[in-house]
Amino acid sequence: MRRYDDIYKIVGTLTNNIFLVDSGDELVVIDPGMPFDHRILADRIRSLGRSPCEISEVLLTHFHVDHSGSTAAVQGISRAKTWCHSADAPYVEGTEDIPSVYKAGISGNFLFLFQGIVEDVCDYPPARVHYPFEDGEILPVLGGLKVFHAPGHTPGSACYLWLDRGVLFSGDAVVNQYLFPTLSEVGYCWDFGLAGRSAAGLIDALEHEDVRIVCTGHGPVITERAKERLLKMRDRLRKRGRA
Ligand SMILES: [Fe+2]
Repeated sequence: MRRYDDIYKIVGTLTNNIFLVDSGDELVVIDPGMPFDHRILADRIRSLGRSPCEISEVLLTHFHVDHSGSTAAVQGISRAKTWCHSADAPYVEGTEDIPSVYKAGISGNFLFLFQGIVEDVCDYPPARVHYPFEDGEILPVLGGLKVFHAPGHTPGSACYLWLDRGVLFSGDAVVNQYLFPTLSEVGYCWDFGLAGRSAAGLIDALEHEDVRIVCTGHGPVITERAKERLLKMRDRLRKRGRA
């Protein structure tokens, strides 16, 4: 577990990042991870001298199993309220079938099969979304989290900007597993073209915000020249005609 100020990063089973923010009053989890990752999360919380039952909020960046799969388990051990964009909430709650994601090309078909196996093996239960939200809302969590809807990776992919600290939680709208901020692979995206346009629009919107740290859904946390690196990503997207 690595610490960045009050933010702890826990790497889950599928390289998915789970973020824990301990503000003293609130114990907030962003993306609790795969269905069995809640055990790792609970362990790490205990190592901080806190109890998993103190988790106050769960914020989901999107519905994919490696990000939302432990939500029901966390709700089972705490009174955590759960937040998710309204377009992904039905998939978290299990009231709608998962849309045709992972469909692009050979790799997409392979990943679709892989995802199917993961979901079958995990058989994770649906979870309640207490607060579905929309683009532009400022959530009353950690003193104010501003929502940026960035559809494409999934219909309801959302990023959260922690206004007091200049920390962006981007989920898989922007990932960093190749050590530069970029889009998630085409095979993992519901609409890859839209993902590119959304990411560029997100970075446009962030240009005038204080962004010092970027916590992505996969890969290391970006702590150096965070905004400059996002702007370079936007330029690359535009140069390649993806935005
Ligand atoms: Fe994802």
